Amino acid sequence: MCTNTLMPLKQPLVPFVDLAAQYRTIAAEVEQAATRVLREADYILGREMKRFEQEFALFCETKYAVGVDSGTSAIELALRAYEIGAGHEVITAANSFIATSLAISHTGATPVLVDVDPRTYTIDVAAIERAITPRTKAIIPVHLYGHPAYMDRIQQIAERHRLFVIEDACQAHGARYRGRRAGSWSHASAFSFYPGKNLGAYGDGGMVVTNDQRIAQRIEMLRNYGQQEKYHHLFRGYNRRLDTLQAAVLRVKLRYLESWNEARRRNAALYHKFLKESGVGLPSEAEDATSSWHLYVIRVGHRDALREHLASRGVSTGVHYPIPIHLQPAYHDLGHKVGDFPVSESCARSILSLPMYAELARCQIELVAEAVRDFMSARPDAKLVDVPGVKHAFYPPAMQSHPEPTVLRAGRQTPSLSQSSPLFFRWPPGGCRAFSLPSSFSTSRFRWVPTSITGRMMPLLERWED
Ligand SMILES: Cc1ncc(COP(=O)(O)O)c(C=O)c1O
Repeated sequence: MCTNTLMPLKQPLVPFVDLAAQYRTIAAEVEQAATRVLREADYILGREMKRFEQEFALFCETKYAVGVDSGTSAIELALRAYEIGAGHEVITAANSFIATSLAISHTGATPVLVDVDPRTYTIDVAAIERAITPRTKAIIPVHLYGHPAYMDRIQQIAERHRLFVIEDACQAHGARYRGRRAGSWSHASAFSFYPGKNLGAYGDGGMVVTNDQRIAQRIEMLRNYGQQEKYHHLFRGYNRRLDTLQAAVLRVKLRYLESWNEARRRNAALYHKFLKESGVGLPSEAEDATSSWHLYVIRVGHRDALREHLASRGVSTGVHYPIPIHLQPAYHDLGHKVGDFPVSESCARSILSLPMYAELARCQIELVAEAVRDFMSARPDAKLVDVPGVKHAFYPPAMQSHPEPTVLRAGRQTPSLSQSSPLFFRWPPGGCRAFSLPSSFSTSRFRWVPTSITGRMMPLLERWED
């Protein structure tokens, strides 16, 4: 039963994820599978792990799968298998979990960060091409929040420049792009089985999938001390194996993955339905993309206030991720500064992940949506407007009392906007009104971004702060 009358709340009414709820639905099967491994004492590179590798490769529509101890290891070992390391550059997205970049760094290579597409939050394909240098060896697109990156265009760039592509599919088990599974597009792909993922173990785990037998064999050795046969070490490898016990659990869960992903899709559709008039920016799928809906990420002004409001109603939320990688202290040596990747920075300020998992009940979604709508009615300045090709833009307070103003164009179609450049709004309907920026307005809150649709530069307004 869902109710929002109990306050204060010890347990959230709507947890962000509910792994115990999932466990209850499969407990008997999981316990049976785990007991089998324990009885057989088959713990390391055991039969259940081999079976899981075969089944996961089949699921991903690839020839090979190699189980490793985490998603981070999966990325690193895939890079190492292609002999990528010191002196090389690997292009990836600034808006991702830091593990993508860490895995690159751990090989000795340098992560070269680029911005993301404002519609899907996946790597900005045009920016990849601009970042290529003679040292570039690979591209790692991230299927962020479960939404696949534009793999066909990325592959074309990679082929033109003879680069490897390694998909970070750590959030995208079961997603598809143009009919093909996320993870099956590239030279090798990495998956994570961290407990909260769409396919999660009861501990850490990961997998590399590939169609290249030579690479699969090399990763099998890399994860196992570099040995080809017992005590014969061809190179200096690691101990990075997937536990057989985890593989046994994951075999059980894999049988449910499609239906769990379907439930997530239904939940996303319900959020859409209940929030479409609310004024928050909603996630959407690009044409030909099927997301795994790992996360349901909205965009809104006054994000932290909304987060607090939801917490007071018993709704737990997340922020994925509050600091883009180029602004993390761990990567200060890359020499980036605020403003280098405006879309990623804008996301970091305004994104909010709502509860999303297969077992989420309709009434819980209604409760979350009602709380969001109540907040938005009280704080209309947190609203977003749709600019063609730039989904999530905020508009200035002077326009907020008017119905449906949309940014039409800026006074000058150049990236050098100043206080004196008026903005034109398509408002009132059928009309057009110029709006000058007040002197208090910081131009750093205003960015130009190329639209995905027309390629023209369009203004992306940040949250207005007086
Ligand atoms: C996009 C992305 N890449 C890489 C990783 C790293 O996976 P793991 O935590 O299994 O090392 C994660 C998971 O947390 C992730 O979300």
